Amino acid sequence: MNIAVRYYSRSGNTKEVAQAIAKAVGVDAISVEKADAQINEPVDVLFIGGALYAYGLDKNMKEYLKTLKKDNVKKAVVFSTSWLSKHSVELIKKGLSDNGITVETEYFYVKNEPSEAQKRDAAVFAKKFV
Ligand SMILES: Cc1cc2nc3c(=O)[nH]c(=O)nc-3n(C[C@H](O)[C@H](O)[C@H](O)COP(=O)(O)O)c2cc1C
Repeated sequence: MNIAVRYYSRSGNTKEVAQAIAKAVGVDAISVEKADAQINEPVDVLFIGGALYAYGLDKNMKEYLKTLKKDNVKKAVVFSTSWLSKHSVELIKKGLSDNGITVETEYFYVKNEPSEAQKRDAAVFAKKFV
């Protein structure tokens, strides 16, 4: 099974969740800003996460979502952090489904920085899909 983990994080909270998921599923978590973040070969599951900034997604994440192709992503699973609102989950899901990508209904969300227990929860969550 091919698995990828991609994220965008300004202050590290979403990165911590991404790394917990990546460790659980045995791949690296790659920031969407990196050149090697592009998905050029088909993956069975793409875990993708970002945070909410002024009720929107960061432009790096918005641009990255546009690059994803349904032929290369069999299914996407969303994770996110924010201070309060889960709107980021909906925005990421919309970016994916606008490209015709199948999105898992369940998502993983943490308020701000994940605790150690929440990182363990993220790992348990991720393993359900691989
Ligand atoms: C400039 C800025 C704007 C933010 N706007 C929102 C917001 O509109 N709603 C919200 O719930 N959280 C908001 N937050 C909180 C972040 O979404 C939250 O701290 C998140 O965990 C940051 O993730 P990161 O560390 O991966 O960048 C904002 C944070 C910053 C820095």
